[in-house]
Amino acid sequence: MIVMGIESSCDETGVGIVDWDGEGVTLLADEVASSVDEHARYGGVVPEVASRAHLQAIVPTMTRAREAAGIDRPDAIAVTIGPGLAGALLVGVAAAKAYALAWDVPLYAVNHLGGHIAADTLEHGPMPPAVALLVSGGHTHLLGVENLSQPIVEMGTTVDDAAGEAFDKVARLLDLGYPGGPALDAIARDGDPEAIAFPRGMTGPRDAPYDFSFSGLKTAVARHVEKRVRAGLPVSVPNVAASFQEAVADVLTAKALRACADRGVDTLVLGGGATANSRIRSLAIERTAAAGIDLRVPKPRLCTDNGVMVASLGAHVIAGGAPPSPLTVATDPGMSV
Ligand code: KG4
Ligand code: ZN
Repeated sequence: MIVMGIESSCDETGVGIVDWDGEGVTLLADEVASSVDEHARYGGVVPEVASRAHLQAIVPTMTRAREAAGIDRPDAIAVTIGPGLAGALLVGVAAAKAYALAWDVPLYAVNHLGGHIAADTLEHGPMPPAVALLVSGGHTHLLGVENLSQPIVEMGTTVDDAAGEAFDKVARLLDLGYPGGPALDAIARDGDPEAIAFPRGMTGPRDAPYDFSFSGLKTAVARHVEKRVRAGLPVSVPNVAASFQEAVADVLTAKALRACADRGVDTLVLGGGATANSRIRSLAIERTAAAGIDLRVPKPRLCTDNGVMVASLGAHVIAGGAPPSPLTVATDPGMSV
């Protein structure tokens, strides 16, 4: 069964194609057009710019994916209906409906967050019961997965900024450009992660065990910089970056490990663009190894938004016997898992 996945929830227009052989998925095509450069001068994703870029990119990206896979049409289409930017989602969903109707193939509406988890199966094969930690510019979630064809359980999420968003905002404060996560990661290599004791948000005994908060941390970084500047003292950008990064990685991985223990699973899956962060990765490796937990981290290309993750989730959902979605299915920008 050949499944096409369409993704347009943020600034990436993704069309992926997979082959489901009854047990797992094989990647046939993974085409992505990104509008990230168009957003850079605004310092963040501009929804209207993203929607227009999707409109221009969607048909050529579909064509490239079909050519790469060497197919005329798939057996089914899966599309992200949420969560994401309302106007951006509409473009992918409208395209999915149009092609499903024209080709007379079933349409499956899927959740973007589930897609991030399903991306891992393209690299590491079928997934055992697991906890997934998703960290990107738009999301920070701890999710419980029994089986990819079953509903995913939301264990916790951020109460304010997403982790990647915190990286981008702190990078902006330190004048490192946009998106600042990779630049901050690079400069942190020259810093001391213990130089400044930044707060670990939501880790008190009364705090929700799987929820996150990064806005207090971002403010603490701003206060630290302001205070030094006002006192005429130098600011060590590498030390600030390393200490901030350490605080984020510490909280993310500690809560993910606790979620694995509480759910009684021995697999942790990472997903989302911010899992490219070197400290999040190294601390996750250290802590899962110490706890005897199997860590699955897909390559960066599969961690960021793409269509093939949507195709993979679609294949699992179809194989689980879910009925197709009606062609009237709506987008759901605020969709939970
Ligand atoms: O998944 P993604 O490509 O897009 C969405 O947000 O959905 O993730 C992009 C986010 C940005 O916030 C970017 O700064 C962050 O991931 N990021 C990083 C690193 N690479 C990307 N954050 C920290 N360290 C990195 N190396
Ligand atoms: Zn995403």
